[in-house]
Amino acid sequence: MNDLPKPYLTGHFTPVTDEITAHELTVHGTLPPELNGRYFRNGHNPKPGITPSHWFRGEGMIHGVRLAGGRAEWYRNRWVKTPYLDGVPFTGTELEVSAAATNIIFHGGRYLALQEANLPWEVTAELDTVGVYDFGGKLTSSMTAHPKEDPVTGELHFFSYSPFPPYLTYYVASQEGEIIRSQVIDGSGPSLMHDFAITREHAVFVNSPVVFDHAEHSGIPYRWHDDVPLRIGVMPRTGAPKVTWFEVEQGAILHVTNSYVDTQGRVVLEGPRYDRSAWETSWKWWIGAPGYGVSPDAGSTFHRWVLDPATGKASEESLDDLATVATAELPRRVPAGIHGHWIEDQK
Ligand SMILES: [Fe+2]
Repeated sequence: MNDLPKPYLTGHFTPVTDEITAHELTVHGTLPPELNGRYFRNGHNPKPGITPSHWFRGEGMIHGVRLAGGRAEWYRNRWVKTPYLDGVPFTGTELEVSAAATNIIFHGGRYLALQEANLPWEVTAELDTVGVYDFGGKLTSSMTAHPKEDPVTGELHFFSYSPFPPYLTYYVASQEGEIIRSQVIDGSGPSLMHDFAITREHAVFVNSPVVFDHAEHSGIPYRWHDDVPLRIGVMPRTGAPKVTWFEVEQGAILHVTNSYVDTQGRVVLEGPRYDRSAWETSWKWWIGAPGYGVSPDAGSTFHRWVLDPATGKASEESLDDLATVATAELPRRVPAGIHGHWIEDQK
């Protein structure tokens, strides 16, 4: 049973074995001629012969399509050429040793491949690897793979989390890509923090019961702990970094869908939530545990939390009980996708 191929290496997850460059692709139908840019998406694509111990430890490969003037000019796929791709093991202590496999963004004129335990890796518009990128020395810790670009200011908001203090640091980079704020956030713990949210006025952080645990040997050292609550932290983006933490019904949040301020001044967060059973079932699929060879039928379900900084009170509701990993866990934001982006040509 243990010899069965890992589910994240089979079927439509089967890794691509070659880097390909193809020009002037055949287009079925018509491409809008005003669509000028690139669609890039990142994902885990282990090199041939390598079976990672966890789906999220597979080396990163970026696929890209270039569209311009109604033509599909090219397709390329490239591994991100990091020390990890060359066989240097991930230990969590060397920030540049990254699978660089979770997401790719474009900000401040740079394409950055991201994985949350590491520094960004910069690639070119043709997906060649440039090198590790630390914002000119101003990023001294890891960077989430889910930063948020403010569509009004053009700023990039992001965070770094760590199993050790300081557990959480909040960063803001200007539209030009210069880090203009670096702030340790109080009250966070050693939780796995994959995503966060911003509103016009707030940053919203999540601390879940999935916390750092030496006993987890899958390559991602985090496990669900029943004695740790789910907490959501709301912090004004300007002024003193005062976070109000709201304890809500226990669950794990991996991705968020949206956050905004309602007409009563309360902060609303929406996104998928796992209960313990759904989380552990999903984790077993992610590590290729025996018996979890097909996509699990347990997954996150869609929730809304309403958080009132004035009263400290939180309420929540289930928005849908549909529970499959494929439909609920990868919500799409506009204009940003979850692990890939359309990047319009700069005017
Ligand atoms: Fe993600």
